[in-house]
Amino acid sequence: MPDTRKILVTSALPYANGSIHLGHLVEYLQTDIWARFQKLRGHECYYVCADDTHGSPVMLRAESEGITPEQLIARVREEHLADFTGFHIAFDNYHSTHSPENQALATGMYKALVADDKITTRTIEQFYDPEKEMFLSDRFIKGECPKCHAQDQYGDACEVCGATYAPTELIKPFSALSGAKPVMKQSEHFFFKLGDCEAFLREWMAGDRLPVESRNKLEEWFEAGLKDWDISRDAPYFGFEIPDAPGKYFYVWLDAPVGYMASFKNLCDRTEGLDFDSFWSPDSEAELYHFIGKDILNFHALFWPATLHYAGYRTPTRLCVHGFLTVNGQKMSKSRGTFITASSYLKHLEPEYLRYYYAAKLNDKIEDIDLNLEDFVARVNSNLVGKYINIASRAAGFISKRFDGKLAAEMDTAGATLIRTLQAEAEAIAERYDNRQFSEAIRIIMALADEVNEYIAELEPWKMVKDEALLPEAHRVCTTAINAFRLLTLYLKPVLPVMSERVEAFLNIAPMVWSDAGTLLADHAINKYQHLAQRIESTQVDAMVEDNKQTLGDKPTESSPTRHAGHQQQEHPPIGETMSIDDFAKIDLRVARIVKAEHVEGADKLLQLTLDIGMETRNVFAGIKSAYAPEDLEGKLTVMVANLAPRKMRFGLSEGMVLAAGPGGKDLFILEPNEGAQPGMKIK
Ligand code: 2FM
Ligand code: ZN
Repeated sequence: MPDTRKILVTSALPYANGSIHLGHLVEYLQTDIWARFQKLRGHECYYVCADDTHGSPVMLRAESEGITPEQLIARVREEHLADFTGFHIAFDNYHSTHSPENQALATGMYKALVADDKITTRTIEQFYDPEKEMFLSDRFIKGECPKCHAQDQYGDACEVCGATYAPTELIKPFSALSGAKPVMKQSEHFFFKLGDCEAFLREWMAGDRLPVESRNKLEEWFEAGLKDWDISRDAPYFGFEIPDAPGKYFYVWLDAPVGYMASFKNLCDRTEGLDFDSFWSPDSEAELYHFIGKDILNFHALFWPATLHYAGYRTPTRLCVHGFLTVNGQKMSKSRGTFITASSYLKHLEPEYLRYYYAAKLNDKIEDIDLNLEDFVARVNSNLVGKYINIASRAAGFISKRFDGKLAAEMDTAGATLIRTLQAEAEAIAERYDNRQFSEAIRIIMALADEVNEYIAELEPWKMVKDEALLPEAHRVCTTAINAFRLLTLYLKPVLPVMSERVEAFLNIAPMVWSDAGTLLADHAINKYQHLAQRIESTQVDAMVEDNKQTLGDKPTESSPTRHAGHQQQEHPPIGETMSIDDFAKIDLRVARIVKAEHVEGADKLLQLTLDIGMETRNVFAGIKSAYAPEDLEGKLTVMVANLAPRKMRFGLSEGMVLAAGPGGKDLFILEPNEGAQPGMKIK
């Protein structure tokens, strides 16, 4: 490998219709740490990204908000950028797929594929919504599952029995957009002849382009036979019109990965001496890495290399594939408050704590990673604050107070040995970062921090400074500690970029690069130590979880297994996580009479209900104010969860939950049992 590598690195482009959450951040933080590391090594590395703006969901959402798609994507861009900046994700460029560069590149690519006979057309028959006057993708068609007869299932798969099917197999299908009965309608579509690319793709993938686990997946796809890929959508659609095909648009996934190139092109056009072709031509010596989640492997391992190759571009050096995020061992869930948005995390906690925690967990495997919130607090407090920061806080005070803010000219013998041990690990740590084995890098760094702490504990400089004769020795010990702290900071710099800057300011040194591991500070004036980090209080985490809890009356609860925010355009939420019959049996549902209903001072969504459940009355805060006036409710029967742990809310204790259904706003309906029911009756 050349001494200075040319590297272009990307993260998957987030959709322009949803917020960034902690699931997405696994990827952005992983990529950012890697790109920062490459830069510290002195390589020429660019990290680019963009918003993924096209497709029906963006179009429909803009429509429902009464704004143009352009207005929507401009707003979401600002939100995304604020979130990324908040987490210190340092893109070299953040562009948009709705950009002139992307249109030119996507169109050019398409034309090259046409010229190479890789595009064909076919007439297909699809469901069409006669009211909305648009073709419906599988996700916008609903109906009865043909297998288990569950109602209200999507056109591609049943969320109750797991069956997959064609939308045409649904019983009594309806449009999820208008409720209209869809009709079958023909339309001409454009296809990329993926079936012709198998030999090329087999050869491409043999070149160590993917993690081994995903190679097996590809093998399965090859065995099933590669099918041509439908790259067009009919108007109305938010995207780029296909050349010479009025009313036909590129499917969002055709121009999304081209967005990687477009973002880089935009950077090149603004940067003197940065040459697009030297990164994208087939004979390019630059390396190209795409960090992606396992859910979008097919797009990146099949369509993307094939379209690049046949359009006359280079292909990716490697796909770096990660798994999903779970929180406390489970899928992120809105009702549990573990579907945590980036912005709400930032309101409560330091971004670098999450960077550290993810780094301590991430490796080069496609495994899911778990954010266990208790473990998060414990690890940050004991390792980051307790082990690493502690070194500086133990030594720095003496340097300023007793030694005039200056480090000694040399270290003590044991200290010199310790520092050599730390320096000797620089390459091992670098290798782990380079191979994306971040958890291993962190393990080595923390083991070194342990050694440094043992050294300090053994020599007890705080005792030495009390004895004039031992002062020079104390000075040498503190100098060792500060040098050790400097090296650990360098090793953590890809993970903790802002903390490192503060340490550099404290140490009065220029920004460090990896080769600085070979040098030391001697006879050097440092600045006064300012507190560098605070421990996390578990109440901060509790408050964050509480903030992310969606109660009745808020948006429908949905849970997404992926790093995505889920299908944003759904009329009804998907069925959430399954539970066992035993879990279900634990829920104690009771008939309750609403004896009193009152407004809650200062709450926009809540009503305070006094519920009679036979033997006792309960106080419950219910988020149903948008749909009911208190006087409508008094005297009514409803259903409550009677054994929910009482929850302290800003307005008082809520002792249960009232059941209601509906999308929210005015359309929210409390469950009302038949008049024959009596308060306190258990619901079977
Ligand atoms: O899955 C997603 O979130 C897509 N928006 C990712 C696109 S990645 C790339 F190909 F643009
Ligand atoms: Zn089913």
